Amino acid sequence: MSLTNRGSSPAYRILAIETSCDETAAAVVADGRHILSNRVASQIGLHRRFGGVYPEVASRQHVLAIQTVVEGALADASVAHVRELDAIAVTHGPGLAGSLLVGVNLAKGLAFASGLPLIPVNHLEGHIYSNWLHPDISPDSVRRQRGGGASEQFPALILIVSGGHTELVLMEGHCRYRLLGATLDDAAGEAFDKVARLLDLGYPGGPAIQAAAEGGDAGRFHLPRPLTRPGRRTERQPAAEASPLPNVLPVRGEHRFNFSFSGLKTAVLNLMRELEREGTEARQPQNAADIAAAFQMAVVDVLVGKTADAAAEFGVEQVCICGGVSANGLLRRSAEQHFAQIGLPLHCPPLFLCTDNAAMIGAAAYYRQSYALARQPSATGREQRQDAEASARSSPHDRTSEPPARDFLALDVYASLPLVDAKQR
Ligand code: KG4
Ligand code: ZN
Repeated sequence: MSLTNRGSSPAYRILAIETSCDETAAAVVADGRHILSNRVASQIGLHRRFGGVYPEVASRQHVLAIQTVVEGALADASVAHVRELDAIAVTHGPGLAGSLLVGVNLAKGLAFASGLPLIPVNHLEGHIYSNWLHPDISPDSVRRQRGGGASEQFPALILIVSGGHTELVLMEGHCRYRLLGATLDDAAGEAFDKVARLLDLGYPGGPAIQAAAEGGDAGRFHLPRPLTRPGRRTERQPAAEASPLPNVLPVRGEHRFNFSFSGLKTAVLNLMRELEREGTEARQPQNAADIAAAFQMAVVDVLVGKTADAAAEFGVEQVCICGGVSANGLLRRSAEQHFAQIGLPLHCPPLFLCTDNAAMIGAAAYYRQSYALARQPSATGREQRQDAEASARSSPHDRTSEPPARDFLALDVYASLPLVDAKQR
């Protein structure tokens, strides 16, 4: 059945598996954009009592859940046997080593047994491609959420904001990236989690801070905007006068597109201590709500301010935000307002694709297969298997029509876990 506008050629269907942290996830994705199924078994309840992800507990839980999750994803997509598919994709890093191994080993086993190609995917590239996914042929509950708006217009500016990473990336084409900046210490999501813990708001911290901030006054306390300077946003943005952005500009010099959130967390701690010294209970609900609102506003000002600056500097065609923190309502509203005013397309994934999932891994695998490895994904799994002998004689890079992209995303040590590609056996 053709699910896309690729004429009569059958869809290229990938089973994707994601176990990099605390979500056991599997999905079937067609042609990199269409979600045929998307199962996520969250471990949030298990880790809540520890106030964060407990790595050994996470990997053991993956072992318990993975088979059910993968079988569920196949059944939801009406796939009777893995051999009906065209490839298997798996997150191979970055992430928790013990968690990654569960998904990687299952994917290797399935690829070995079925003869399908195995596509290792970097988790961050998965987050990036969550912006290319359409929930359109998924179940109703999923279809109602908009998404998949990212286009073929490059360069694109990507802001990745997750629990482990905060990065500004210039995407020059599919699977071609330049790292503009990253956090020097805590990631944005990590800062949300740590501040929520300070305020006793619960786990995971991002949604807890957002909920508390709804009843808070963001103007009662002032918190710093790290690696920024005060100034009016005028130079390159014609609509600057009307911009809802606060007067937050990135610092000049090498840290212009870098981030730092650990000092902001310390500023929250100092503020709480100061309140306590004055005899004010910092965790009293209204005080906690005001602190949460001030913290959220400070993070969003920095993220949107730097993204706006980078977008103007590099003359990008579109801006994409992704990762768990991209679910944050204030971040989405603030970015939407700003980029709408300067007329630049902005994309945020639908909420269910912001946090970890396997559909995004299937999407990234498709584009990696199509562009970085220069394989034609129009071939079915069967055709690819027939082609395996010829392919095995040359490395993927020999078949690349353009120079290999600088793959900074693979620098993490766990991203280089050896994977056996079925085509190379
Ligand atoms: O991408 P993700 O699911 O996992 C990683 O790759 O790290 O991101 C998880 C992070 C957590 O730190 C969580 O607190 C944060 O995303 N998060 C949010 C929101 N929802 C999740 N942060 C702010 N506001 C939210 N609504
Ligand atoms: Zn993630």
